[in-house]
Amino acid sequence: MDKILVHGGRRLRGTVKISGSKNSALPILAATLLTREPCTISRVPDLSDIHYMLTILSELGCEVERASGTVQIRAGKILTHAPYEIVRKMRASVCILGPLLGREHDATVSLPGGCVIGDRPIDLHLRGFEALGAVVRVSGGNVKVLADRLRGARISLRSKFGSTVLGTGNVMMAAVLADGVTTIDGAAEEPEVVDLARFLISMGAKIEGAGTRTITIEGVKELHGAEHEVIPDRIEAGTFLVAAAISGDGVTLSRVEPRHLEAVSAPLREAGFEITSHSSSMTLQPGSQRRPLKLDTVPYPGFPTDMQAQMCALLATTDGISVVTEHVFPNRFMHVAELKRMGANIELQNATAVIQGVPRLGGAPVMASDLRASAALVLAGLQADGTTEINRVYHIDRGYESIDEKLNELGASIERVKA
Ligand code: EPZ
Repeated sequence: MDKILVHGGRRLRGTVKISGSKNSALPILAATLLTREPCTISRVPDLSDIHYMLTILSELGCEVERASGTVQIRAGKILTHAPYEIVRKMRASVCILGPLLGREHDATVSLPGGCVIGDRPIDLHLRGFEALGAVVRVSGGNVKVLADRLRGARISLRSKFGSTVLGTGNVMMAAVLADGVTTIDGAAEEPEVVDLARFLISMGAKIEGAGTRTITIEGVKELHGAEHEVIPDRIEAGTFLVAAAISGDGVTLSRVEPRHLEAVSAPLREAGFEITSHSSSMTLQPGSQRRPLKLDTVPYPGFPTDMQAQMCALLATTDGISVVTEHVFPNRFMHVAELKRMGANIELQNATAVIQGVPRLGGAPVMASDLRASAALVLAGLQADGTTEINRVYHIDRGYESIDEKLNELGASIERVKA
């Protein structure tokens, strides 16, 4: 397994180009199953999670062609059962259930395993499918969803954690070809849900309210092929903003959507950094004084759980006491033990991390665990004395397109060592 060596103490400056959004591209690629006509999706990031999704679509019978960031997919005659081996590797493959159910009224996927950030239930997805008239059967580690016909319904996706991003997308994709009108209450408002809705609408779907808590879908007879450019990755962008805060002397992000990052820019400004935004770029400059923060992760438009680990890396060397609480994935603190190996002073109290800032971190061998925790360790290494060795780098490659190369172009000193 590859590992990454981060030689700390280098300052970052310059401009970094942000890639297309992983969490938008995954459901949009799945949505191409809803039509027999070809679809062209551009600005698809080159990530292992995307590779897994394209492999699943190919195994289902789709014609898939990829040329750098553009993917052509034609779902002519397709199977309705995704192979366990691939699905096991990527939980987000659950989002093929909705389009397969919507088009074929039959879908089987192996139950997504839990992962280090928590057990990842799909009860809300399945409740949505049942409301549309489907029968759900769980057996042998597979979930099978069948329907004679799909009828529009009123569905609530509210949960004690807020809503479900992939669940909202899955139910939307199952409803676009149903008979009648579906209303989703408690829908996720994330920009990735809006991007998926825009793609479905370009295929001929009738959807209103995406980006709000209530989405209305009027079923149509069939959908046609379409072209779509994926939105910028707001979490990659947020990760680079934090890198710029940790070790930068003026870093600009290009090809971003500043509106999607307001819940990340606000705490960074509160922490003492200066951020200026233009239509598709953002620049972060160090401020005169750094301040500790109290952060709570909540569904969009609040502060995103996917940025929590990265902010802990910044707050680890911010003088004073910061308090970070997870309301979406209460166990999502795998990065804390590793940051403490680097000298951070963090105490976990249930779903809250209490961080006493220390002057410096020290490089150490650390273990990547999940996608965002791994990115946080790279960021921590930027500011640490000495070298930080990050093992199990495949976690990072799932969600970041060449993060080491992009950081090196800004002035970092990061080596990727083939194991
Ligand atoms: C999406 O996952 C993202 N993944 C996650 O990003 C992100 O952390 C998450 O949304 C929250 O923003 C993709 O889009 C591929 P949820 P998703 O369903 O949709 C509970 C990354 O780092 N829940 O919104 O799977 C769930 O346990 C990844 O890029 C149920 O209880 O997350 C969690 O506590 C990690 N029942 C909360 O809701 C359900 O049926 C939010 O989960 C579904 C979810």
